[in-house]
Amino acid sequence: MAETAQKIIKINLEELLQILNEAYAEEWLAYYQYWLGAKLAAGQMRPAVAAEFAEHAKEELEHADMLADRIVQLGGTPILNPDDWSKHAKCKYEAPQKEDTATLVMQNLLSERCAVGRYQNICDLCFGKDYETFRISAHILKEELEHEQEMEDFLKDFDLAKK
Ligand SMILES: [Fe+2]
Ligand SMILES: [Fe+2]
Ligand SMILES: [Fe+2]
Repeated sequence: MAETAQKIIKINLEELLQILNEAYAEEWLAYYQYWLGAKLAAGQMRPAVAAEFAEHAKEELEHADMLADRIVQLGGTPILNPDDWSKHAKCKYEAPQKEDTATLVMQNLLSERCAVGRYQNICDLCFGKDYETFRISAHILKEELEHEQEMEDFLKDFDLAKK
């Protein structure tokens, strides 16, 4: 814990730590969803989809890493038991329903839209009150928006390929 980190924020610390832990749990689930999706993917544009999923898995894990560091800096504890991830996550894990790329991409698109809302909310909460959490959340938000765009682009490509 960094003593000053706790003192300078103008938000309720307990509330902030609770929210950061929810986001932290969501990132691990997002990581696993992409990581597994990259292994299972089959069908249309498989190489491109699997490569993008693998890259996003890495980025979701980096997000978990940034959040864990910030939680510790604020004197909190990142969720200790993976059993608790799904209990805390508001953006839920979407277990792959089918292995076809279109289904997987659609499932990841839904997750990304939830993630965008999550970081927009954290940015709103921290704006002008906690610059460091704001900075981290704005960085993650930028990447979640890119992820959303890329999932939409795949769906558009699938659609065009049908015509
Ligand atoms: Fe993420
Ligand atoms: Fe993402
Ligand atoms: Fe990407």
